[in-house]
Amino acid sequence: MSTAPLEATRETITLLRHVAIIMDGNGRWARARHLPRAAGHHAGVEAVRRVTRAARALGIEALTLYAFSSENWRRPEDEIGALMGLLRLFIRSDLAEMVRDNVRLRIIGDYSRFAPDLVALLDDALARTAANTGPILAIALNYGAQAELAAAARRLAERVRDGGMPLVGIDEEAIEAELETRELPPLDLMIRTSGEQRLSNFLLWQAAYAELLFVDTLWPDFGADDLAAAVAAFGQRQRRYGGL
Ligand code: IPE
Ligand code: IPE
Ligand code: MG
Repeated sequence: MSTAPLEATRETITLLRHVAIIMDGNGRWARARHLPRAAGHHAGVEAVRRVTRAARALGIEALTLYAFSSENWRRPEDEIGALMGLLRLFIRSDLAEMVRDNVRLRIIGDYSRFAPDLVALLDDALARTAANTGPILAIALNYGAQAELAAAARRLAERVRDGGMPLVGIDEEAIEAELETRELPPLDLMIRTSGEQRLSNFLLWQAAYAELLFVDTLWPDFGADDLAAAVAAFGQRQRRYGGL
């Protein structure tokens, strides 16, 4: 048996440090089954479990998942409630495994707007994985890239105003250091499921030179094989960064 595909995967993985996923299509998955949208979100959590495990098995250094956007507050209250409930369940059921697997849990986005018990649960989960040294799982909660950039701009402007920083100090590096992803490796691959081809306010700065992959699979149907296929597709891409 040839080991070439495995070698190819290993090689790709060394170039692929950070994958982000816009997990879309839960509602359509449910509708196709005549189920309530919440059932789609429930199945979506199963996919999160499968894909986070697969990412660890593949040796991906950082995985960022778009779980709730700053625009998702526009949804009906009962759907938002269902999503929050599932987030609670996911943290409660999967935290022990993350601690065991040395996962560094991170949250991007302003989750302080969530219910106090959920904020406390998330803070506790962050604290319990803070000393870990392994793969990063970043969950985007009440995240919006434009708000992230506006906040970064405000902080930098404040420093200039207070005299701690010259105006020319506001460069790409300084902005990057203010982003919520500052501890994460550069974004290599952005995947969106469900056939939609837009970024929906996710990691706009970070995606500058990321490879984009849009797949038709609905998020609840996405699994380890789909992630492996995405990694393989990434391996076929030629990144030029403006050069030749
Ligand atoms: C993604 O699935 C989950 C979240 C946005 C939280 P959707 O709920 O957007 O599913 P569709 O797009 O309606 O199918
Ligand atoms: C993006 O999906 C947000 C998440 C996956 C959390 P949406 O379903 O909210 O995006 P739009 O509304 O189709 O752009
Ligand atoms: Mg959607």
